[in-house]
Amino acid sequence: MSNNLFDLSLQCLQESDLERKLQQLNQLLDLWTQDALDFSARGPIERIPDPGRPAKPDLVSPKALPRRGIGTKEGHAALMHSIAHIEFNAINLALDAVYRFQEMPQQYYGDWLGVAGEESYHFQMIREHLYHLGYEYGDFPAHDGLWMTTYETDHDPLVRMALVPRTLEARGLDVTPAMIQKLRAIGDKRGVEILKILLRDEIGHVEVGSRWFRYLCAQRDANPFTQFTALVKEYFHGDLRGPFNYEARQQAGFSAQEIAWLKTL
Ligand SMILES: [Fe+2]
Ligand SMILES: [Fe+2]
Repeated sequence: MSNNLFDLSLQCLQESDLERKLQQLNQLLDLWTQDALDFSARGPIERIPDPGRPAKPDLVSPKALPRRGIGTKEGHAALMHSIAHIEFNAINLALDAVYRFQEMPQQYYGDWLGVAGEESYHFQMIREHLYHLGYEYGDFPAHDGLWMTTYETDHDPLVRMALVPRTLEARGLDVTPAMIQKLRAIGDKRGVEILKILLRDEIGHVEVGSRWFRYLCAQRDANPFTQFTALVKEYFHGDLRGPFNYEARQQAGFSAQEIAWLKTL
């Protein structure tokens, strides 16, 4: 078996069987911990329109997703399912950040493997909670917006860091507090507990994105603020709109200038 980081990340990224994927990720994380990975670049780097994922859930356009209140058992489960789907996709997002950008310092790979491991932990916690609500991952339809942006930013790690962790994952920081309140209102204590863990960890993921975004800007003598705002305008679908979680974003490495810009949106 290869112990090459890029081969193993690609293999895990493309694995569509859920259990095998989680298992391969664990093996990859073990190899990282044991310092047993080979970092030599592997080419050609493939574009990946469709990463490995199970046959279910069915993917539909975001508009085709039924909007359900959280008040019913089904609506409650549908919310958990949508979070499970985000966490599952986030594993692929992190693996792609490892596989695709093969000229980064070793710590970059350690950071993104760490993110992949946390996403897998998030996914498994939510999946178990969903199971207690009487459903499994795959029982509801889901949408594919996260991978689309990942695919469209596969040519440049600077663009990827700006759009995936610092825009898509950062969105999670904004919306999670309101979800926590909703779950609290219906008495879902375990749900509240899980979402608090997710929020805490996601601040770390966005921070990893901020750190490597700034690293790449410095390497290219580019102004991080100008770059970030220009890239969001160029690549983000739809409007970036508040309310924003300024405190969490600040902890996640958003600069005072970036926060001031968000306040104008
Ligand atoms: Fe997560
Ligand atoms: Fe994340």
